[in-house]
Amino acid sequence: MIPTLAWTPEGVRFIDQTKLPLEESYVVATTYEQVADVIVTMVVRGAPAIGVSAAYGIALGAIGATASTAAEFAPEFDAICARLAGTRPTAVNLFWAIDRIKRLFAGLLADQANIAEVRERILSEAHAMYDEDIAACKAMGAFGGELMPQEGGVLTHCNAGALATCGYGTALGVIRSAVEQGKHIHVFADETRPFLQGARLTAWELMADGIPTTVICDNMAASLMKAGRIQAVVVGADRIAANGDAANKIGTYNVAILAKEHGIPFYVAAPWSTIDMATPTGDSIPIEERPQIEVTHHGGRQLTPDGVGICNPAFDVTPAKYIAAIITERGLLRAPFGESLLRERPQ
Ligand code: MRU
Repeated sequence: MIPTLAWTPEGVRFIDQTKLPLEESYVVATTYEQVADVIVTMVVRGAPAIGVSAAYGIALGAIGATASTAAEFAPEFDAICARLAGTRPTAVNLFWAIDRIKRLFAGLLADQANIAEVRERILSEAHAMYDEDIAACKAMGAFGGELMPQEGGVLTHCNAGALATCGYGTALGVIRSAVEQGKHIHVFADETRPFLQGARLTAWELMADGIPTTVICDNMAASLMKAGRIQAVVVGADRIAANGDAANKIGTYNVAILAKEHGIPFYVAAPWSTIDMATPTGDSIPIEERPQIEVTHHGGRQLTPDGVGICNPAFDVTPAKYIAAIITERGLLRAPFGESLLRERPQ
């Protein structure tokens, strides 16, 4: 399995996703500040991977602390959590992971734990999240694989694969599982401007698995759909609101509208850590605005005239009405999502 991130005796080791597919190199973060930088610069990206990275970042912060008790460590703990929470606003898995460690820490404070216990418990919680993430991807794969056509084209946008999770992937996990079930799937990977997660990352990891893949420019999907070459769409999500509206990589909304127009089912695969029942609709999901240079330049080369207006929202929101099913590790959810999410949510 692709080693997206791993805990090592030196720190957290990340495959550098800014360098793929041309170079397979690794970055080791030894402090929580370095983990925050790695998230901001998208060395690691993808909602579930960001969440688990943040949990490991807090563990590094605890290991680096000079405090001797949980109580002494508390102000630093808050600062560490705030720094990591300030990295990327849309992926709710980040806040889910930080909140989970905060709840653990509140218990350690109440128990008057010493710093050795704090370090050990935070690290083992991060390891648990890592393992749970892979298990969730496998379960989503099993449920979602059933929805894939026996044979045909499946379009995906961005990278919701092993590289976006601790392994196996959400949307790409569904595709992997369908292939493991013996289905003959040909993946069409949107290149995903401006950061090219589809062209660089989805193509790289599916090729490593020998799954037939064709990269298309983002503006080619409609024509392929019209030509009957796409039988299903499956994407990931960064945050799903309580009514089923789903934020994902910019351009996902376009694909959903095109799929609807062509009568093609559009599926969203995401673990429950991506579902934000506290956000009522997609209108309240914060959308990250990324640096302009991601649009103005590519590979160090300037593409646009100096001074032109640039807009770079990293995500858009697909209204629930376009989604045929949400694939979770607990099963498939169908419309009306407001009701199915409420009914099926983990207690
Ligand atoms: O900006 P990115 O690359 O972090 O965006 C990633 C996506 O949009 C993914 O589709 C999403 O996080 C789901 S990953 C399983």
